[in-house]
Amino acid sequence: MSELLTVLEPATEAVLEELPAAGAEEVDEAVERARAALPAWRALAPNARAAALRALAARVEDAIDELALIEARNAGKPLASARGEMGMVVDTFRYYAGMPERLMGETIPVAGGQAFTVREPLGVVGLIVPWNFPLTIAAWKLGPALAAGNTVVLKPAELTPLSALRFEQLALEAGLAPGVVNVVAGYGPVAGARLVEHPDVAKIAFTGSTAVGRTIAATAAQTIKRVTLELGGKSANIIFADADLEKAAAAAPWAVFDNAGQDCCARSRLLVQASVVDEFLSLLQPHVEAFKVGDPLDPEAMMGPLISARQRDRVASLTAAEGASVAFRGSAPEGPGFWFPPTVLAPVAADSPAVREEIFGPVVAVIPFSDEEDAVRIANDTIYGLSGSIWTRDGARALRVARALETGVLSINSNSSVRVSTPFGGFKQSGYGRELGPHATDAYTEIKTIYYATT
Ligand code: NAI
Ligand code: MG
Repeated sequence: MSELLTVLEPATEAVLEELPAAGAEEVDEAVERARAALPAWRALAPNARAAALRALAARVEDAIDELALIEARNAGKPLASARGEMGMVVDTFRYYAGMPERLMGETIPVAGGQAFTVREPLGVVGLIVPWNFPLTIAAWKLGPALAAGNTVVLKPAELTPLSALRFEQLALEAGLAPGVVNVVAGYGPVAGARLVEHPDVAKIAFTGSTAVGRTIAATAAQTIKRVTLELGGKSANIIFADADLEKAAAAAPWAVFDNAGQDCCARSRLLVQASVVDEFLSLLQPHVEAFKVGDPLDPEAMMGPLISARQRDRVASLTAAEGASVAFRGSAPEGPGFWFPPTVLAPVAADSPAVREEIFGPVVAVIPFSDEEDAVRIANDTIYGLSGSIWTRDGARALRVARALETGVLSINSNSSVRVSTPFGGFKQSGYGRELGPHATDAYTEIKTIYYATT
């Protein structure tokens, strides 16, 4: 454990904490602890595992203020948002506490006996999560993984390990046996890579960049690991001329500036029907200019800083890319802190990197379209397919467009993407597998078929 992890507060650039970075050896030890804890955890009666998850939810709920403050400071998100996210963490564990008793199989008519299926846990599963919603995205994986009887090794992002480390303690305090939940705070290419290649890890659930997702899938192939991937996005917010334009304009900043745009569901392409594009932009501009960027602990702040200097530089360079010009933007504090103002790009060439690449910052590209068919064509003209929004008063059109979009989750006259009880995941290079909802446990179990001869 030679390397250090220096954890920063992005709003001030101050050092929050220095930790030893977990290396391959620490990952191997964590996998061993998870292996040792597996037999007892998977053998727990379903109602006992449900009770353990309810206790975990209760312990996290007691610690909401503490966790929200850690997340707000370390990830640079407004405290109210962090508190809402921690509420979702609690809800996620409560929801999946209902699953151990619902992991049902089937009985199948066959000749000479009876066949039936049961769900078995996979074993030790590795969870690799990003820095944008650190504990929330971890919970989406922890809930179904634990409910199904797996033990886990969680690797948080190197920029935001603090909430996961606190969560590891909370799990023990809630009464989960040591080794059921293990956290390794280390660098992706070292600790993350070791988890992916480890022969005793049965599955990797990953959220992060498409580039790293590709590497993980390739490495996992060596040990035939199960993999689920939740990757990047370049989603469209589609505004038809017949929409409630005022409502759509008030909502559009939240669709892409929320969490400083560091959201895989960010609607970073704003498709507006050409006949109303000028009107829509003039309705949008005051909302963008009023979008308050500030210290995450300031209750007025709607958006904090970006996560790192590297992320800010990446966002700045894509915003300044060829073919894109700034139409208008909000303001941001002066440094220190990794600030970037909410920015609207127009006009933008269809082949500009600002339109093709996931920016992962508070930047939206405005793209006019002529009619419904044109809107669908442009929206689908991307390697990604994660989320999207459709604004129109024509219900039949909303449903036609919703069915035509190559995207995993979308909303009509809304920006909402994620609910504990509904499946979430991507089409195309936004990944594969679905999290949340009633079927998430499928991705953490194997089906076993048992045939009982009666003749
Ligand atoms: P990243 O994909 O490198 O990081 C995500 C997680 O993967 C972190 O825990 C990291 O330690 C781990 N990781 C990195 N390399 C690894 C490897 N070789 N093996 C195993 N694990 C590894 O994302 P990064 O570099 O922080 O951000 C770059 C871009 O990725 C962003 O600008 C954004 O476009 C995209 N991104 C998308 C996210 C999403 O929610 N879909 C989340 C984070 C980033
Ligand atoms: Mg990376």
